[in-house]
Amino acid sequence: MNEGRKEPLAIFGAGWVGLVTGACFAELGHEVVIRDVVPEKIERLRAGKLSFFEPELAELVERNGERLTFTLDAAEAAEAAELLFVCVDTPPTYSGDADLSRVWTVIDELPQLERRPILVMKSTVPVGTGEKVRAALEARGRSDVGYVSNPEFLAEGGAVNDFLHPDRVVVGSFAEADGDRVAALYEKLEAPIVRADVASAEMIKLAANAFLATRISFINEIANVCEVTGADVEKVAEGVGLDHRLGPHFLKAGVGYGGSCFPKDASALKQLASNSGYHFQLLSAVIEVNELQKRRVINKLQKHLGRLRGKRIALLGLAFKANTDDMREAPSIVLASRLLAEGAEVRAYDPVAKPGDLVSGMTTSKSVAEAVRDADAAVIVTEWDEFRSLASPEIRDAMRRPLIIDGRNLLDPEAARSVGFTYEGIGRASSLLSELPQTDEPARRETSSAESAEHSSRE
Ligand code: UDX
Repeated sequence: MNEGRKEPLAIFGAGWVGLVTGACFAELGHEVVIRDVVPEKIERLRAGKLSFFEPELAELVERNGERLTFTLDAAEAAEAAELLFVCVDTPPTYSGDADLSRVWTVIDELPQLERRPILVMKSTVPVGTGEKVRAALEARGRSDVGYVSNPEFLAEGGAVNDFLHPDRVVVGSFAEADGDRVAALYEKLEAPIVRADVASAEMIKLAANAFLATRISFINEIANVCEVTGADVEKVAEGVGLDHRLGPHFLKAGVGYGGSCFPKDASALKQLASNSGYHFQLLSAVIEVNELQKRRVINKLQKHLGRLRGKRIALLGLAFKANTDDMREAPSIVLASRLLAEGAEVRAYDPVAKPGDLVSGMTTSKSVAEAVRDADAAVIVTEWDEFRSLASPEIRDAMRRPLIIDGRNLLDPEAARSVGFTYEGIGRASSLLSELPQTDEPARRETSSAESAEHSSRE
């Protein structure tokens, strides 16, 4: 490499991780070739269009257009750089193991090169993947190919900022020199760089996500106990989070975590442990608590409305969190399906996410006003900013019953009540103690066995 010239890079996979990584490296001054197998995707990218929503990314791609090349040709990408970032999907198989077929495809397509290529794994993979890839490369006579684990820690909706201002960068390598090459790319970011062996680097990613998921399930269980004891989880989280050993993050109680990472990575780690003969008891509970949490809103609705058959429920927010259109593993999907199974009519609204026919039987609305018209209840499922003004006289008058179930504790309970709403959040003292309105049916429950199990085990 010439002194002063930034190392050119190749990225395999033009999905969300690949594009954020490629665009951010281009922003840092690297020439980046991004390769994907889907012709339409490459065509759209060449025309400057992204096929998903991520704040700041479109501007970054446009601003660095001169340094970004998109191609379908694997050889072109491999020849452009020595560091080849692997950003392909590694979805779980039926056994819970990761499907590495797309990683193998990248390796299959690597031409013999004059320079020594180094695969840099960004995708989240089970511990042991690097070792497997290394063994397979040797078996294929490709021991010339190096391997570095460099997991991504990008949260949707803030991925560009996460990349350019990371808490840390993790670099796991078999050969010290290969790790040095990758670590050097991040020097300018002034973040701590954790150098590790490959297996530990792979484990850091899984452990970090499992730990964050544990915090969420923990605070959700505290919220559930708050409801039966008269405490308020928002106050509790504030007081707990000020302990510097605990910190304030990931202590928002709600309808449970979703998304493409936490559910998948928590299961993958549980599976990985059990494949090795270890029962990861705590993580199993974290996953189960999350499943039950998604369904608790149903109990809250039944408490106020009695049987849900024929009731019209407005679901506000479909994405698994705000500022993304991603509905993968979104709590809204479970909630909508359970409501439909109870015989309710479900009208959903999300400012960005498009559910298509993901939940058959659910209708979608173009606005909050349309979703809540004649509704028996409005449920806040995603913390979009525009729902903060939900408790208005106009919305109250548009609804058949002014009932808000706030699955994200987004609203001020007193303000909502002063407008005339019956308000219930998650883990707020008033959730249990507020006076219940008269309903036209007693809260006679006809529950599925899953609901009954939840009821008996936690209430
Ligand atoms: C996460 C990790 O943050 C990221 O580092 C990793 O690389 C991929 O997984 P992401 O899935 O985009 O990122 O979302 P995140 O913002 O972490 O939220 C995950 C889920 O947890 C969301 O459903 C969110 O609503 C929920 N959540 C988060 C809570 O319920 N309470 C909280 O306090 C925080």
